[in-house]
Amino acid sequence: MIRAPKGTRDILPPSSAVWSFVERRASEICRAYNYHEIRTPVFEETLLFARGVGEETDIVTKEMYTFEDRDGASLTLRPECTASVIRAYIEHRLDQQPGLLKLYYMGPMFRRERPQKGRYRQFFQIGAEAIGSESPAVDAEVIELAMEILGGVGVEGATLLLNSVGCLNCRPRFVAALRERLKVVAPKMCADCRRRVDSNPLRVLDCKVESDQTIIEKLPSVLEHLCADCREHFDAVRAYLGDRGISYELRPRLVRGLDYYMRTTFEIVHGALGAQNAVCGGGRYDGLAEALGSKVHSPGIGFSIGQDRLVMTLEETRPGAHAPALDVFMVPMSEPAFRRLSVVARDLRKQGRTVELPPETRLKRGLELANKLGARYALIVGDDEIASETYLLKDMATGEQETVSLSGLYERLNLKLSYA
Ligand code: HAM
Repeated sequence: MIRAPKGTRDILPPSSAVWSFVERRASEICRAYNYHEIRTPVFEETLLFARGVGEETDIVTKEMYTFEDRDGASLTLRPECTASVIRAYIEHRLDQQPGLLKLYYMGPMFRRERPQKGRYRQFFQIGAEAIGSESPAVDAEVIELAMEILGGVGVEGATLLLNSVGCLNCRPRFVAALRERLKVVAPKMCADCRRRVDSNPLRVLDCKVESDQTIIEKLPSVLEHLCADCREHFDAVRAYLGDRGISYELRPRLVRGLDYYMRTTFEIVHGALGAQNAVCGGGRYDGLAEALGSKVHSPGIGFSIGQDRLVMTLEETRPGAHAPALDVFMVPMSEPAFRRLSVVARDLRKQGRTVELPPETRLKRGLELANKLGARYALIVGDDEIASETYLLKDMATGEQETVSLSGLYERLNLKLSYA
């Protein structure tokens, strides 16, 4: 048997209804904040991610699906979308548009990670990026948008974790202090951490190895090393979040797994998720556009919500909430009944009702199926109804049934009678 590749999944009904609900709601909320949709290719030149996400990151060193195209070009399935959005921003000179550029996207990303609950090799993100301003006001609005999307689809009890990782001015001082300290404690840490002392000490803070955690907790804190500008920026972000009543926990060791971050970084976690508890990650990336070749300084901030994890949270906390409705299950008990109902079915569908019309069927079997499929009504037409030009409408929840004329039927279903 051929199965879906390891780390990928089929999204089947009824779960797929939750997926489309989330996408619809998220688009509406992004539009309310004046974000516009962008769609970028699912593969890009490998160089984009090496430069954008960072040569030393786990994503670039271990997790990318990279392949050589027939013409020798090195291509990579996108492991994330921020680098692609900035590539498109530069390529299409979007910096020339008036005001802040606010873009949102949704779609599949690819990382060759070890699959487990909440972690896949093809996973989906809903993300937003605001490009063109360093203002902490934008940070607050972007974070609010992420929280509003989660709340707007029905996630309750998510926690916002907040940090600032400083800028090119103050971070080197912090990294130096961190490296000094690590030289003393790293011999007691895992092999990855020992290697990172030289290559990328910040990554040590992100280590998930249990036995390293007590050491990591005592390492120097980035918040204590912020320069005056970064401190002021971070204080303003916190004040603006306060104005909006958005609560958060400060996490000085939150460095995130991508190298482009500067200043504000954040994650949103949820208890229903288990070990992979981050449902959203984001932050500011003020140097990314320049690193990708932009001549114009284009500071930005954004986030990506993990849609797989978002849907998982919803399914665990509100099971069945978005079960797709079947309004009417039709039971044509003869060929003439089927032919009459086919015309009514099309009209009800035109008016937005979900209708199932099976071929000629027996009453008992039709009602059983209507019940199993969770139909709200069964609409039965047999010889009597054909003779009297009526319909038998059965409310599946109460069991009540009544014989109605066509206009009576439309009245019951709150529809306009457009067909006679
Ligand atoms: P990230 O933290 O790598 O950030 O990913 C964001 C979210 O995507 C995670 O919090 C998680 O919910 C989900 N995610 C990541 N990897 C997987 C996986 N293997 N399986 C399932 N879900 C996963 C970014 O990707 C940045 N582009 C976020 C950003 C946007 N920063 C600024 N703008």
